[in-house]
Amino acid sequence: MKTVLVTGGAGYIGSHSALALQKAGYEVIILDNLVYGHQDLVETVLKTKLIFGDTCDSNLLKQIFSTHEIDAVMHFAAYAYVGESVTKPAKYYRNNVVGTLTLLEAMLEAGINKFVFSSTCATYGLPETVPIKEEQSQNPINPYGVTKLMVEQILQDFSHAYDFRSVCLRYFNAAGADPEGMLGEDHNPETHLIPLVLQAASGHRDSISIFGTDYNTPDGTCIRDYIHVSDLAQAHILALKYLLDDGKTDVFNLGNGNGFSVKQVIEIARKVTGQEIKALECDRRPGDPPVLVGSGEKAQQILGWQPQYYTLEDIIAHAWQWHQKRHQ
Ligand code: UFG
Repeated sequence: MKTVLVTGGAGYIGSHSALALQKAGYEVIILDNLVYGHQDLVETVLKTKLIFGDTCDSNLLKQIFSTHEIDAVMHFAAYAYVGESVTKPAKYYRNNVVGTLTLLEAMLEAGINKFVFSSTCATYGLPETVPIKEEQSQNPINPYGVTKLMVEQILQDFSHAYDFRSVCLRYFNAAGADPEGMLGEDHNPETHLIPLVLQAASGHRDSISIFGTDYNTPDGTCIRDYIHVSDLAQAHILALKYLLDDGKTDVFNLGNGNGFSVKQVIEIARKVTGQEIKALECDRRPGDPPVLVGSGEKAQQILGWQPQYYTLEDIIAHAWQWHQKRHQ
């Protein structure tokens, strides 16, 4: 049985990927500093070894790699609040860049050479055309996106210089929850659209604010490509298999190629939940690109990725099931 170290495995996308790894027959070890992760979900759902610690801690990494037979690393641990990255860039460069480099150096030293990395559509900045393909130029417009791009560049250089191979997965808007209701999205603070809309649906908040209604889009609100977290998790399994089968270093977008506006998301959430959901039209949120839609064709062709839950109804229904369970 192959063993995978999952950093950030107590977080949203990391925990869903850890569950998918277990279902696919891998042994999972989680490293998480629990700043945003959920220990209870690791203990009750994943029931696997949780190492409490930080990717900046080179001694801890050395110890992990010398005491466990690890075949590959999936790296989710990162700070991911775009707004905070603008006001506290040092925190983001330290954790997302220094932490990752420390992890990569420890892997080199231990002779572990397969790495799946959580990257983001935020590395593209303001896209030239949509749907975005991997060749488009990357010009991030916030420090969060820059930290992810820096790591992508480090990984390119590593694969030229060392016996080291990686897959970067550039996610569009991760959303939804485990269809069986075991795991879901639980950020604190929550800033993402769908969980906030569901909080408004369940009465945990009065209303949802629509950030900007004057964009150059059909209904004036921003358009995003929402991708089910379990489909993201499957892409990680495929990326791992690709690396285990000697695949070369590469990057893949994980998007459905379909965009939904903020107003459309709220409308579908009203249908799925049967609740009214009060929406307030507000000013734009700084730094939001009007349209982000990604082409997942390359991942489909090379990795064999086939998203299963591509309708927004499914995505929101699974998120709603989780929301009701978590907040009952
Ligand atoms: N939005 C609202 N009201 C809210 C919250 C969000 O109208 O209360 C809007 C946003 O303005 C945006 C859309 O809903 O147009 C989606 O916003 P999210 O915060 O859910 O997601 P983002 O598109 O901002 O974030 C995603 C990823 C990040 C990534 C970023 C790149 O989650 O990891 O895209 O821009 F960095």
